[in-house]
Amino acid sequence: MVVATQTKKASRKLYLESYGCQMNEYDSGIVKNILKEANYESISEAKEADLILLNTCAIREKAQERIYGRLETFTYLKKRNPKLLIGILGCMAQNLGDELFASGLPVDFVVGPDNYRQLPSLIERLRTNSKQALFNLTHLSRTESYEELQAEAVSGVLSFITIMRGCDNFCSFCVVPYTRGRERSRSPESIVNEITALIEKHDIKEVTLLGQNVNSYCYEKISFTKLIEEILAKTKIERIRFTSPHPHDFPPELLELMASEKRFCSQIHLPLQSGSSSVLERMKRNYSREEYLDLALRMKSKIKGLGLSTDIIVGFCGESDAEFSATISLVKEISFDMAYMFRYSEREHTWAKKNFKDDVPEAVKLERLSHLIEVQKKASLSRNQNCIAKDFEVLVEGYSRRSRKELMGRTLSGKVVVFPPTVFPPHSDAFNLDHFIGRAINVKIEEASSATLRGLPL
Ligand code: 5AD
Ligand code: SF4
Repeated sequence: MVVATQTKKASRKLYLESYGCQMNEYDSGIVKNILKEANYESISEAKEADLILLNTCAIREKAQERIYGRLETFTYLKKRNPKLLIGILGCMAQNLGDELFASGLPVDFVVGPDNYRQLPSLIERLRTNSKQALFNLTHLSRTESYEELQAEAVSGVLSFITIMRGCDNFCSFCVVPYTRGRERSRSPESIVNEITALIEKHDIKEVTLLGQNVNSYCYEKISFTKLIEEILAKTKIERIRFTSPHPHDFPPELLELMASEKRFCSQIHLPLQSGSSSVLERMKRNYSREEYLDLALRMKSKIKGLGLSTDIIVGFCGESDAEFSATISLVKEISFDMAYMFRYSEREHTWAKKNFKDDVPEAVKLERLSHLIEVQKKASLSRNQNCIAKDFEVLVEGYSRRSRKELMGRTLSGKVVVFPPTVFPPHSDAFNLDHFIGRAINVKIEEASSATLRGLPL
């Protein structure tokens, strides 16, 4: 008698690290899903992996240096297990391509952000090729949007969803248009379906819609505002956020919708980059200091309790003391809730690299950066202190970083709040507060630092 035995192929082990922005984080989920289909199981220890992937960022030099450092630490794993494959994904893969092979570091293949569907076949080819040929897949696509490939779900509370890819703005300092290619938008239907599935399967309460420049979202004449209206009408999502819009063409009707719709969070991240009109011109940002200020003030007056944050670069090519002072004065005038602040780092391919000199000395860049951070810290503190004695609805995301006896969540305006639970659970379970996660709780703020609010539940 012949007994049919069905043996399931043992799964291979994937270790993936994600660097850079939330879009990379989302893409890492897509990659994991693609490779799950090819029988790869995700693990959390690099030393046990058959395949190591680094999803990289190229936005600043420092981001790239980190990856080189990380690769060096994998050299010994590769020596121990010659069958181990190591691949570089993301913007640095796209930006550097073959250069990565020449570095002498353990890299078997390089795959850019538009080529992830080919990962399983590429890896199979590498596994069966005894010579371990090097592969570089960095074709930029005008259409790839991974439309039907949903990312791995993030647990019980919130999720990020990429709604468009690429950027057509070509700000003069920025490498993104060269690493992520031309703008393309996903269909509203696929976005609505993904959100519905996240709610049904993973009980998601909040989504953040991601794009390099969300206000240029456009799918068969459907605008970004229309997309949000559709999401509000067709899903039960409780909170929507988005990041990032461009100040140049922020749609007025989006502001109206934000002001009138409670499920639309009162938070805007509006990258400023510089407070000097002449620097903004060199940056090819398409707005002046005055236009930005006017928009920021309009936003603040229209949207009650708005949380306004920004990105700023100091030490861009030719930035004079007076131009830097213009940034400082605008930051003081607007009083952002939060800002990400960077010193300029010259990038391959960009207009600035080709046309300007990176002539602000490193020491001056550092000095300006610490001055700006100091000014912004004061503004953040004062904005947060304004919240004291007020009540906010906080969606609980998890535990506070410092203590498992306290919860952490965010207000509609995006501020982080730490607070103890309302009623402690039964004794045996004293510090298991999991059942609070995903709940919206009203909290009265009692204390504020520049980064965090602390309060008590009502
Ligand atoms: N140098 C420094 N910061 C940069 N950013 C983008 N490119 C550069 C660069 N070459 C910053 C911008 C952008 C954020 C994501 O990164 O502020 O908004
Ligand atoms: Fe880069 Fe400008 Fe596009 Fe943002 S809008 S990704 S800064 S080119």
